[in-house]
Amino acid sequence: MAERIIGLENASRTLAASVRVLHKVELELRAGESLAIVGRSGSGKSTLLSCLGLLAPFDRGTSYHLDDTEVMRLSESAAARLRATSIGFVLQNSGLVAHLSALENVELPLMHSSRDGFRGIRRRALEQLDQLGIGHLARRRPVQVSGGERQRIAIARALVIGPRLILADEPTGALDEQTGALVLDLMLDLVHRTNAAMIVVTHDSEVASRADRTLHVSDGHLHEPERRTR
Ligand SMILES: Nc1ncnc2c1ncn2[C@@H]1O[C@H](COP(=O)(O)OP(=O)(O)OP(=O)(O)O)[C@@H](O)[C@H]1O
Ligand SMILES: [Mg+2]
Repeated sequence: MAERIIGLENASRTLAASVRVLHKVELELRAGESLAIVGRSGSGKSTLLSCLGLLAPFDRGTSYHLDDTEVMRLSESAAARLRATSIGFVLQNSGLVAHLSALENVELPLMHSSRDGFRGIRRRALEQLDQLGIGHLARRRPVQVSGGERQRIAIARALVIGPRLILADEPTGALDEQTGALVLDLMLDLVHRTNAAMIVVTHDSEVASRADRTLHVSDGHLHEPERRTR
């Protein structure tokens, strides 16, 4: 069996107002695997992704292994380092830096993780934009492109580090069917080529059906999949 990338046990997330969004969630994800997460609006999908992406903490008592690292034991700075080098996050609201160009936004994560010099970083960022069909927009700022183009810049920024784990919150929500399919192909191809793992939150059954399996979030729980063969 492929090596495990995510091992999550007894995971809960309680917000300040003691609203329990996630309760005793278990999840295992292996190298090369893609998972779709579906569920009603407000059910906790983005919350789960944020915690898996080390943008927010799970409650104490949670065990979260990313590869062999117990993430819950990491200091804040060690967690930030792990996030920068291993996790490609496509946020639901693109999260691009408004005053930087598309190219600079995609270069940003490489500044933390790459040993390439400036030229190497620029080349990789440009290649990534090209792959997503938006190389010609490299100089534009996020407000100067369309919603779907902005979404693709955010995807380029997530993929450019060659992440171990890709977390994508509605990555194709603003894209037409054809572009969405292309972008998803690219992400799945990266997962298989680099033996990474991917979790996609989606309301689109077409997108969900492309993943190896699907889980449902409701009442704070992740429901067991009907497992499909590839
Ligand atoms: N900072 C916060 N304070 C209080 N409640 C919050 C906070 N952030 C999210 N919530 C609540 O937590 C629940 C889960 O939110 P979450 O964003 O994870 O939902 P979601 O499944 O991603 O929904 P959608 O499909 O609409 O994106 C919601 O009821 C939301 O109102
Ligand atoms: Mg959400």
